[in-house]
Amino acid sequence: MENIDWSSLSNDDLYSIAKKLKKEKNCFVLAHNYQFMEVQKIADYVGDSLQMAKVAAKTDADMILMCGIKIMAETVKILNPNRKVLMSHYDADCPLANMKTPDDLRALREKYPDAEVVCYVNSPATLKAESTITCTSANAVQVVASIPREKTIIFVPDKNIGAWASYKNKRKLIMFDSYCYVHEQITLEDAKKTKEAYPDYSLIVHPECRLEVCKEADFVCSTSQMIDFVKDNDRVIIGTEIGLYYQLKYRYPEKNLAPLSSKMVCNDMKKTDLRCAVRALAEEKYEIVLPDEIMRKTRRSMDRMLLFI
Ligand code: 13P
Repeated sequence: MENIDWSSLSNDDLYSIAKKLKKEKNCFVLAHNYQFMEVQKIADYVGDSLQMAKVAAKTDADMILMCGIKIMAETVKILNPNRKVLMSHYDADCPLANMKTPDDLRALREKYPDAEVVCYVNSPATLKAESTITCTSANAVQVVASIPREKTIIFVPDKNIGAWASYKNKRKLIMFDSYCYVHEQITLEDAKKTKEAYPDYSLIVHPECRLEVCKEADFVCSTSQMIDFVKDNDRVIIGTEIGLYYQLKYRYPEKNLAPLSSKMVCNDMKKTDLRCAVRALAEEKYEIVLPDEIMRKTRRSMDRMLLFI
């Protein structure tokens, strides 16, 4: 695949190159629900963080391409230490994941030496390695509930998912003040205004939204749980990154849907377009490499997470 003029290729050219390369390289392609529809079309599986991790843990492909962000590709690598794991874009990261360092977590653990550390999956492998159990938006409430009540829990890094898990479990959690800028920007007033504009719609939101916004919603759930909700319901306001709204409009053109806010755009998720995803597969440029020690330590907390739906 040398000397390709990538800029001259149409989407149809790119789809057929992706098909050929996937077969030749025995590569399994994962895409997160926020990715552009053109990128989702070359994927073997599209899902939320928990679903992608579960599927990744079972694949027997030689290579895996993650169309999403770095923390998701790291999760796949930890679950597949002997397979080549590629990222679709060299610089698609997660600002939330990088707000605090493993040293910040170690400092917190020194204050609460007996605490269990629950680490939300949108975190770097180095932070997960310092935790006892990992969770995603789909199972954060259940993971917290699984820890004996007499135990102190440190929940990192997202303070909003932590607040939701704390509220649902009626339990105090020790937290960082990190957040996802895409979800944090939505205020209670924004949520109320959108509900007023669509009075007979249900509001579903991602738990990375502020607690007061979650409390205003009819359903608080992961991105794939939102897709399931829309499958069974009409007239829904979608409270997460705008890519999910576009995916739902594509899948269910007949349904009445509205975004909670068109400002909910994750710049990192949007770095991957079809061309760069296919090129990443062709050139195998952006491989995820993690130290063995980090993978070993992280695997423990991640295996515990995979026991939860
Ligand atoms: P999900 O696991 O619900 O897809 O969420 C991932 C994410 O990055 C939310 O901002």
